[in-house]
Amino acid sequence: MVGLVAMADDAQTDLPADPSAPWLELAPHYERARAREDSLDRLVEWPAQRHLLGDITGCSVLDVGCGNGGKLAELVGDGATASVGVDLSGNFLNDPLPGLEFIRGDLSELDSLPGLAGRRFDRILFLQSFGYAKDPVRTLQAARAMLADDGFILLTRTQPIRYAVERSEQNGTSLGEEYFSTAPFSYLSGWNDQITLTKRAYTISDLLNEFGAAGLWVETALEPQLPEDARLRYPHKQAWMNKYLGILIFKLRPLPSQ
Ligand SMILES: C[S@@+](CC[C@H](N)C(=O)[O-])C[C@H]1O[C@@H](n2cnc3c(N)ncnc32)[C@H](O)[C@@H]1O
Repeated sequence: MVGLVAMADDAQTDLPADPSAPWLELAPHYERARAREDSLDRLVEWPAQRHLLGDITGCSVLDVGCGNGGKLAELVGDGATASVGVDLSGNFLNDPLPGLEFIRGDLSELDSLPGLAGRRFDRILFLQSFGYAKDPVRTLQAARAMLADDGFILLTRTQPIRYAVERSEQNGTSLGEEYFSTAPFSYLSGWNDQITLTKRAYTISDLLNEFGAAGLWVETALEPQLPEDARLRYPHKQAWMNKYLGILIFKLRPLPSQ
């Protein structure tokens, strides 16, 4: 089977040659899970991401690691123009709307993807995809170079504390030991019980330092939570958020001097 990484779910391991490979198989499972009415993406993440994007009318959008492109299609439906989704999995929506184009490609090669040469975008999105960049600063620099005047990058990552909580429970260690561990770690994706993802460990400081090194500053940071009605309707999701916190969202702008 393509993309399966066979290892115990609590194993500390080296980073595989291609940590993105499991997505070739995982992509449709992820989209099915995302579409559920109680998915945290629907209840928390996408509403917060959409809020930070604001009025998108007339804006060109590049969605890096766009999944099937459903979020980008919604933005084009709301008035975005000349928009491009890039993803490694190639699991794209059929018949994209006019003004929407998909490119199968690797976000680690953003600076050399033929379909992006010479393009500029008003909004560039990395929604839960940035962690797959082999060289995060290079990928962000490539995105920064494609920003139009007054453009910004919207980037989300899982709270690293979530992974530290999981690992401290699995390994019988403390939160601090795991949060500050630099060893790559593996976990079951949650969207398919057979597929394991392996990530480089990171802290919140690591992220902020990567933004700075790429010549970006944080205009806004959010840690979105469930709205009150969803807390009542989906107490199991609130319990998950109480334990694992959720995601971080950053609105990033280029530093003028770089
Ligand atoms: C958690 S999903 C997020 C999808 C979408 N951005 C969203 O918010 O629903 C991560 C996405 O990153 C993509 N991905 C992983 N590694 C990649 C790479 N090296 N280049 C491009 N896309 C990648 C996966 O195929 C998957 O679609």
